[in-house]
Amino acid sequence: MNKITPQPGIMDIAIYQSGAAHVAGVSNVVKLSSNENPFGPSPRAVEAMQAAAAQMHRYPNSDHAPLRQAIGEVHGLNPDQIICGAGSDEIIAFLCQCYAGPGDEVLYTEHGFSMYRISALAAGATPVEVKERERVTDVDALLAGCTDRTRLVFIANPNNPTGTMVSEAEVARLADGLPDGVLLVLDGAYAEYVEGFDAGAALVTSRSNIVMTRTFSKLYGLGGARIGWGYGPRAIIDVLNRVRGPFNVSSTALAAAEASICDLDYVAKCRAENAKWRGWLAEALAEVGVVSDISCTNFILARFGSQGEAEACDTYLQKQGLIVRRVAGYNLPEALRITIGDETACRQLAQAVKDFKNGAK
Ligand SMILES: Cc1ncc(COP(=O)(O)O)c(C=O)c1O
Repeated sequence: MNKITPQPGIMDIAIYQSGAAHVAGVSNVVKLSSNENPFGPSPRAVEAMQAAAAQMHRYPNSDHAPLRQAIGEVHGLNPDQIICGAGSDEIIAFLCQCYAGPGDEVLYTEHGFSMYRISALAAGATPVEVKERERVTDVDALLAGCTDRTRLVFIANPNNPTGTMVSEAEVARLADGLPDGVLLVLDGAYAEYVEGFDAGAALVTSRSNIVMTRTFSKLYGLGGARIGWGYGPRAIIDVLNRVRGPFNVSSTALAAAEASICDLDYVAKCRAENAKWRGWLAEALAEVGVVSDISCTNFILARFGSQGEAEACDTYLQKQGLIVRRVAGYNLPEALRITIGDETACRQLAQAVKDFKNGAK
């Protein structure tokens, strides 16, 4: 008998399914399946990354001080309370690794991001899914779901894949209602799409039981660089830094992120384009009977009459070279998540859904 066995929980992890990028037999695809920025990274980020590439033989800076300083300046945060990771995924993993283990529970919502469950299981903890109310985080359900084994509560605000968000007052009520010893994680992967929203940073600053995670993968267009960050009480950031590898973020990613965060005009342009075409697309789909909740992100969750109809539409879209995301794995079988592309992509997508609704196969 083979005595080499993985830790408990690992084999319960279903391997993460990322958004498809290819369709067999179709050469020119439009990828709207991974919530990427259709305009790509800031040209300043590309330039900074190219310059950093020439020094690739050197290990990167391990304390990330210049980037933490830049983030601190842009967001008005103390750099000592910031940690950088290889994507915010890594910060989520650190949080589970440091604060949950066998016998502990990690809460997240019914349609919450799948890495919460994966990271909880990887830490040996028990993932617990809590109902939402009509695709919106339900604070009362989360509070009622806490037991004396709960250690972490994750919410994404705005949420993926629903696109909805809850108010700062609701988040504060959640933080203040949690039992002692439970850490609330506010995942702000899509926060940049909400004008004037601090992703809960002020709540983190005024409390000791909240951590916020952020990413450069979405509005900043750096998904391929793998860089994100977290902001929390100094004592918690100190704990996370103990498990962080010294060179967890590459020098090219650090350079690109620092240049991106300082390119405020580019950020504003991408945010405005997204908002414009998000509204246009939601309306165009609603006109042909495909409804969605008001989205606060760079995607919309398009709802069809049934799982069969959603799947048939997805198949039709693929034939047209349009790749969107099925979300049955997020308990939303009758929906498709559609990333907001540029104008051409949005018009193409709307026309294809209209044709499908008119009987095209
Ligand atoms: C809600 C949410 N959190 C976190 C992430 C992870 O992003 P990254 O690891 O690229 O920073 C994603 C990516 O899709 C997301 O949707």
